[in-house]
Amino acid sequence: MSANSNIATAPDVTVLPRVALEDMQLDIDPKSYQALYNKTPFGFTHNLHRLDIFQFDSISELLDRYTGASNDYYVAGSAATAGSAFFEAPHIKLTPKEAIHQLNERSTRILLKRLENHDDRFRRLLDLIIQQIRSIPGGLGDQPILRIQSSLFITSAASTTPLHFDPEVGFFTQIEGDKTYHVYSPDDVREEDLEDFYVRGKVSIGQLDLGERDPGKEQVYNLRAGDGFHQPQNAPHWVETCGSRSISYSCVFETKADRALGRTRAFNYYERKLGMRPTPPGQNSQLDNVKAEAIIPDRLARKVVNRIRHT
Ligand SMILES: [Fe+2]
Repeated sequence: MSANSNIATAPDVTVLPRVALEDMQLDIDPKSYQALYNKTPFGFTHNLHRLDIFQFDSISELLDRYTGASNDYYVAGSAATAGSAFFEAPHIKLTPKEAIHQLNERSTRILLKRLENHDDRFRRLLDLIIQQIRSIPGGLGDQPILRIQSSLFITSAASTTPLHFDPEVGFFTQIEGDKTYHVYSPDDVREEDLEDFYVRGKVSIGQLDLGERDPGKEQVYNLRAGDGFHQPQNAPHWVETCGSRSISYSCVFETKADRALGRTRAFNYYERKLGMRPTPPGQNSQLDNVKAEAIIPDRLARKVVNRIRHT
């Protein structure tokens, strides 16, 4: 386990001057970005907590827009432990607007999804974030993005989100309060686990066993307002809030290449089921591409597997 030490300490946000949306800034070290993008988590600082849209009054108005949009929010209690099954945490049948009032009384995790569909200012923020990320040499560059989404996490003190991974690249920012984020490199996940996940072809969370994680691949980020970090696709993570309410914002996306990698792994699932030992993605890009294209539809994939087997 390595504790992150390069995160600047954020001063008291209540005395900080506001920043215009167009002046939002992610302060990402270009060298870290170039070397670690979508491979290893790394920290950065930002000024998003100083934007009007992240002040509590503004967030409270945003909550009104989610009433009736139940596909776009998730309200749950704390997980019992970091190793609990993800969806075993108690579901709370309240709207975000109702749940916000019980943050101090009952451990509550509110997730608002697709902010950009509920307020145009969040769509603009997403555009600005991607512009800044693309302007740093290396990494994302001009790769086409197929899916992008922003989310807001409003969480009671002392609440736990259990271990899982997400099938997308993320930039996570702390807006208010403290949060301890435990994240592992994506290469800590076994290929078999990734294949089992990607063969389902669904955008969801990937469930993993905490006991199987390598402590040497864990990074711990003690996030305060103004801190952020980059989370590679498939990086296992679990999260705990500290002594007060926490608000975090994340931008996640999936490029054409990220999605193709998922299809390659889905193909490898079938190879493994047939008793073969699939070449892990990344070793032979031509083969990866053939597999990525062959997986649709499943019946075709089975035929291709059989053909490979008999040549
Ligand atoms: Fe996650």
